[in-house]
Amino acid sequence: MSSMLTSEKLGAARSPNTEPKHDATRLHHLIESQQLTLPLLMELFNRSRGMERVVARGGTLDYQNRILATLFYRPSTRTRFCFEAAMQRLGGRVLSTEHAGAFSSEVEAEQIEDSIRIIGSYADVIVVRHPEAGGAKRAAQVSPVPVINAGDGEGGQHPTQALLDLYTIYRERPLVGLSVAIVGELDKGRTARSLAYLLAKFDRVKIFFVSPHELQMKSDILDYLDAHGVRYELEADIERVIREVDVVYQTRIRPERVRDRKELQRYAINSGVLAKMKSDALILHPLPRTVELDKTVDDDPRALYFKQAANGLYVRMALLTMLLERDQE
Ligand code: CP
Repeated sequence: MSSMLTSEKLGAARSPNTEPKHDATRLHHLIESQQLTLPLLMELFNRSRGMERVVARGGTLDYQNRILATLFYRPSTRTRFCFEAAMQRLGGRVLSTEHAGAFSSEVEAEQIEDSIRIIGSYADVIVVRHPEAGGAKRAAQVSPVPVINAGDGEGGQHPTQALLDLYTIYRERPLVGLSVAIVGELDKGRTARSLAYLLAKFDRVKIFFVSPHELQMKSDILDYLDAHGVRYELEADIERVIREVDVVYQTRIRPERVRDRKELQRYAINSGVLAKMKSDALILHPLPRTVELDKTVDDDPRALYFKQAANGLYVRMALLTMLLERDQE
């Protein structure tokens, strides 16, 4: 039997005519999750499986003439290291500034458009983390080479995080019919927002958004889910959903954003919550974490967040190959 991923194996069945206007088979930049049609997801996940084998044998030199630039205006551990490792495992090279706000001409008030035009004449692909929602889109509008959004603003998106999140779930079980709790500071949660868009592509998915009322998921996502017939509920207590969900996607809540800090315990995963979860549930977290995910959870077989971060390497390698090949056509 072919190891190729098909839409049936992926468990996907949303009607193509409900998809947004993005090109179903081509990706030039990756700015938001809505761009990722089912054919693109299938291609990406097939390539990611292949990258697992490439990494197991130490990498490839196939992209030795290609250069990745990482332009991060905000801190990052996982995303920046992961993209740089991905390019190096492909044989390519990396140009980087780890704190673009301080070490690039941003300090001289240079606009991102000018920076991107220049960097795009040196590199073949640019990964940007920008402080403003829409910053990556501005970059893509002027870039001569593919731009990847590595997180824009508060309440923007982080589409490659959502891709590796979805890939991690897909490696464990079919995506169709999933019941997923997305927990945390959802109004400004880039990863939660991007993941909600991706989950909406799969039939019979149900999403529980679990958050303090004042930090709940914003109406743009809820309107999108309504328009695509995706079931969801808004909840204010993880205990109310924990027994029925297949996946808990936990994210941070900054204590200063809640009225009563004692409330944070209603959203935390600890041994008490673990005891109530399904025995085969999956626990994901994009990291970094604070009090919402107790370290005692790490040894539980359902805790997949370190595997999830590791999967980012395969997914980002696959994405780079798709963007670099398409850019040559
Ligand atoms: N998950 C994530 O985006 O982590 P970093 O902020 O460390 O890149």
